[in-house]
Amino acid sequence: MRVMGIETSCDETAVAIVEAPAGPEPVGRILANVIYSQLTEHRRFGGVVPEIAARAHLERLDGLVTDALSEAGLGFADLDGIAATGGPGLIGGVMVGVMTAKAIAFAHDKPFLAINHLEGHALSVRLTEDVSFPYLLLLVSGGHCQLLTVDGPGRFTRLGTTIDDAVGECFDKTAKLLGLGFPGGPAVERAALTGDAMRFSLPRPMWRKPGCDFSFSGLKTAVRLAVEKLPANDQQAIADLCASFQRTVGDVLADRCANALALAPAPALVVAGGVAANAYLRSRLESLAASHGIRLVAPPVKLCTDNGAMIAWAGLERLRLGETDPLDFRPRPRWPLDPSVSMGR
Ligand code: KG4
Ligand code: ZN
Repeated sequence: MRVMGIETSCDETAVAIVEAPAGPEPVGRILANVIYSQLTEHRRFGGVVPEIAARAHLERLDGLVTDALSEAGLGFADLDGIAATGGPGLIGGVMVGVMTAKAIAFAHDKPFLAINHLEGHALSVRLTEDVSFPYLLLLVSGGHCQLLTVDGPGRFTRLGTTIDDAVGECFDKTAKLLGLGFPGGPAVERAALTGDAMRFSLPRPMWRKPGCDFSFSGLKTAVRLAVEKLPANDQQAIADLCASFQRTVGDVLADRCANALALAPAPALVVAGGVAANAYLRSRLESLAASHGIRLVAPPVKLCTDNGAMIAWAGLERLRLGETDPLDFRPRPRWPLDPSVSMGR
């Protein structure tokens, strides 16, 4: 079984083709994975501009679909399904991806699958790692910070979420305040490598509180106040602040995951989303998982940030269960993974 996946919900235009395991192989195979990062389009604005993103997706997507097919050495006839991110995300971009996938599906008489972007992140680990359901998922990206129990495709129970900002947003803001550029996560991680993580004492919102919710707005404010007091052009101070910030985030994530494991014990802890690319945070979560006698499983770094392979894989997992979506599916700016939680949060 082979599925094409299209991702256009933020600032990456991405197309991939993945193949289901043949025989006893538990994991999938990536036949093509092409991506166009709109970094240059957005850099001078210091963040993603939705209208510019939608236009860039429109300009690039057809070419990337062709590139993916030629990288895989396949034609549309060789595919069993066409998946696209159906939300949540910047709606102009989501519409471009959904319309393209529907058009391919209609023209070639293939099933269409509308994938929840968060489900793409949530299941991506199973494309490359042998991990079965259920697992506890820490989903940490630019727009989300959630803890969920994953029982299967479409079967999520949310244990906690952020009551204000997402953790990736907090990395991006920290980088912006320190003039480290955009996107912030990798820049902060790089600067932190040479920093003293104990130099700055920053607040740890929600730390040691009951439950599994997160909060990052107080930390963001504390970083801003610390930056205002930094001596000018002091590279060491910048590195120390980045390292201290990362340690603080690590403390909070580990504390919240420990609460989640106490509430809903699981055989594995999975971390996914752009922030899961962070090596320091991965090692903190690895220690936490080890202390609970379970393993930490994470996708390879390049599959942590937005990509088409995770959308193709989620499509494949759904197609395997006999699920497809109608061609009148409407793109969704909001789409919670756990339908029992309110749409507003
Ligand atoms: O999953 P993703 O690519 O897009 C969303 O769905 O949001 O996540 C992007 C976020 C950005 O906030 C980016 O700064 C963060 O992930 N990120 C990182 C790292 N790489 C990307 N954060 C911390 N450390 C990293 N190495
Ligand atoms: Zn994402």
